[in-house]
Amino acid sequence: MKESILQYDTVALTTGRDAIHIIDQTKLPGKLVFLDLYTQQEIWQAIQLLQVRGAPAIGVTAAYGLYLASREIQGTDTAEFCAKLHTAADYLASSRPTAVNLRWALNRMETAVANCCSIDEIRDNLLQECNAIHDQDIRVCEKIGEHGLALVKPGWGILTHCNAGQLATVKYGTATAPIYLGHQRGYHFRVFADETRPLLQGARLTASELHAAGIDVTLICDNMSATVMKRGWVQAVFVGCDRVAANGDAANKIGTLGIAILAKRFGIPFYICAPSSTIDLDTPTGNEIPIEERAGDEISHMWYEKPMAADGVKTFNPAFDVTDADLISGIVTEYGVAFPPYDSSILEIFRRKAANPL
Ligand code: MRU
Repeated sequence: MKESILQYDTVALTTGRDAIHIIDQTKLPGKLVFLDLYTQQEIWQAIQLLQVRGAPAIGVTAAYGLYLASREIQGTDTAEFCAKLHTAADYLASSRPTAVNLRWALNRMETAVANCCSIDEIRDNLLQECNAIHDQDIRVCEKIGEHGLALVKPGWGILTHCNAGQLATVKYGTATAPIYLGHQRGYHFRVFADETRPLLQGARLTASELHAAGIDVTLICDNMSATVMKRGWVQAVFVGCDRVAANGDAANKIGTLGIAILAKRFGIPFYICAPSSTIDLDTPTGNEIPIEERAGDEISHMWYEKPMAADGVKTFNPAFDVTDADLISGIVTEYGVAFPPYDSSILEIFRRKAANPL
């Protein structure tokens, strides 16, 4: 057993290549429990229940999931095999609707087998592609760290929301990548982690992983961000993202929009940190981003010994909100930072990607 969760890949294929090995994030920080996911149903459920979560991590999980599906599917006819694979991809994609990384990874996997002539070749290509997606995620987060670090100064206070950390990616995180890199270089950041109601990813995951890495982190309730900003303790906001629309509108964990509005009020730069795989050029604006709604008992019952709402009280539990592009100071990707106006700067990110893929 290693000492800290930071020493593990959040998502990996087992050495026997017959299961996906994940840390069960619903048990953190109290218990470090690992799960091996074998079947499509187990993978779908682990994503839905947030045992594995965070846009890049669920993309990698889905990619491994499709490879595992190819080991389950029988047959010798490649067209029939690919049709069954497509059904499996649709099934995995249905586990969560907002993070486009899920569909992006599955599309990439299917594209990798488009011209295969045999089932063996399909399985080989799928294995190669899911491993490539996994390894690339690590390089991408490292690059986001470098580009993000160039936007801040030593000693700054940085506020973050939800968990766009190591646990949301294979390694390093997106919003936390500049923080980890700065920590290595002696920047002495003071990080404020919003607890992130209702599922407490900020408290359970972000605060824990930063603390374990020896970073100065202070946990606050979501309704305290205005106060810490007003006191002058925050010089930049870094958050992750589940989908960036072509116009720069960005969906992230519920509560992000409020933080962006506050940051504007207090003149604090607000950055989205996201791999280019989170940018969806097929979604024109934030209005078209599908927003997952989750069960109301996550608000009324979970984490409490007794329900905190009377029986029959209505609930509304959207898992994400959309921050309008005009509230975003920059989108930090592995190919550099896109600044407003986003319709052109996002295209420039894709030009760099095509010219020099990571
Ligand atoms: O519901 P979750 O925990 O999957 O939500 C995660 C977030 O909102 C993250 O900020 C986002 O996926 C980016 S992770 C690098």
